[in-house]
Order: sequence, then C-alpha cells, then structure tokens
Amino acid sequence: MSSARPPRRIAVLISGTGSNMLALLEGCARGEITGEIVRVLSDQPQAAGLAKAAACGVPVQALPFESGESRHEHDLRLRSAIEDSGAELVVLAGYMRILDEQFVNHFATRMLNIHPSLLPRHKGLHTHRRVLEAGDATHGASVHYVTPELDGGPCVLQGYLAVRPDDDAESLRLAVHRIEHVIYPRVVGWAAAGRLQLVEGLPTFDGVPLQQPIREEFSRA
Ligand code: GRF
Repeated sequence: MSSARPPRRIAVLISGTGSNMLALLEGCARGEITGEIVRVLSDQPQAAGLAKAAACGVPVQALPFESGESRHEHDLRLRSAIEDSGAELVVLAGYMRILDEQFVNHFATRMLNIHPSLLPRHKGLHTHRRVLEAGDATHGASVHYVTPELDGGPCVLQGYLAVRPDDDAESLRLAVHRIEHVIYPRVVGWAAAGRLQLVEGLPTFDGVPLQQPIREEFSRA
C-alpha cells in the first residue's frame, strides 16, 4: 500500500459477536469513515457477526481452521482472501486467533486492532477481571497497529474511564465496549482519510509522530 493513497477499502476480521464490526459499518454509513468495508472474514463460520454483516449486505467469508493445516498455511489462505477482496486496510475486531508473523509482517503498517485495556497494561485475555484484581483506578480500550508482538504494537488512541468501587467484570466489559464503539470508527476514519499512517514504527497523525497515544476520557452513563 502506498502512503500516498489512503486505504479506503477495508477488510474486517472477526471471531464473535461483531459489535465493533457493526460500529465500523455505522461509521461508514454516517461518513466518519470515508471508506468501504469490502469483506468481513471469520475463522468461525458460526460467528454471529458474520450473519449480521451479511444482513447489512457486506460480503462475508468464513475461513475455518482445517484439520492438519498449520497456522502458516491457514494464514496464507487468509492473506489470499484479503487480497482477493481488494482490501487495503485490515481491521481486527475481536479476531481471536493469533496471527502468524509472516502474515503480520505482510500487512505491517496497514493492520489495526482494538484491545479492551489500556495497553501496555493487561495484554491478552480476561482484561476486565485483571483490572479489578490489580485494583486499577482506570480502565479502557486501545486502538493500535499490529506487530508480531501480541497486543504490543504502537497505540494510536486510548479511551479511558474511572473504575468504580461497585464495578464487576461485566459492568466494565459493557462500559469498555461503549468506548470501543466510539474510538475504533474514529481511528479507522483517520486512516481511511489519510490522516493516520505508521511511519518508521510510529503512528503519525496529521504529520505529527505520536510518541504517546492520544488519550480521551469517557464518562459513565
Ligand atoms: C472487543 O472487546 C475487542 O476489544 C476485543 O474483542 C472484543 C470483540 O467484541 N479485541 P465484538 O465482537 O466486537 O463485540
């Protein structure tokens, strides 16, 4: 992908309910994302998000892991499917498989992920429970470029909120999901408009390298 031409054709990878994928579709519909979701792909044929995308008229494709297939072989098939769709930007939205390093390197600079924590805190799973166990005062979500290090790529935008004494993992999950549905369309919109790029390993927004992610506080309903 040339940095001269913004990536307007978007592939979204999901494994589950797809609420972020729907938020991205809504972002396209209201013009916050001046791009088009050209395909939604899932490793889970039964993923609820696939049916939701299809109901919205978006081309969908299930690519389940086949028995005897290595991760590398599977990710080569996934890469072919993405390239076949014409996508220029790959957006991971609850895609639960760890991606092969060659796949990640192939799409380096044009692959984004959203993670339900304030990275680098709480990489991996069960972030809401771990925030409570750690007694964190704040929690939130991070949109970051994808690198071979799991949940380790440079962050663009973080939305955060105060953890309340009466929070449990479910209340945090719901609150963080609301943040995700705001910040992900925003960042993808920046990328599709050519305002955001990854330059020499640093997210660069309106020409300014981000040494730290942009942070936005959210209030609780
Ligand atoms: C989100 O919490 C996202 O941060 C994480 O996976 C979850 C996907 O949720 N990567 P949904 O399928 O978009 O509802």
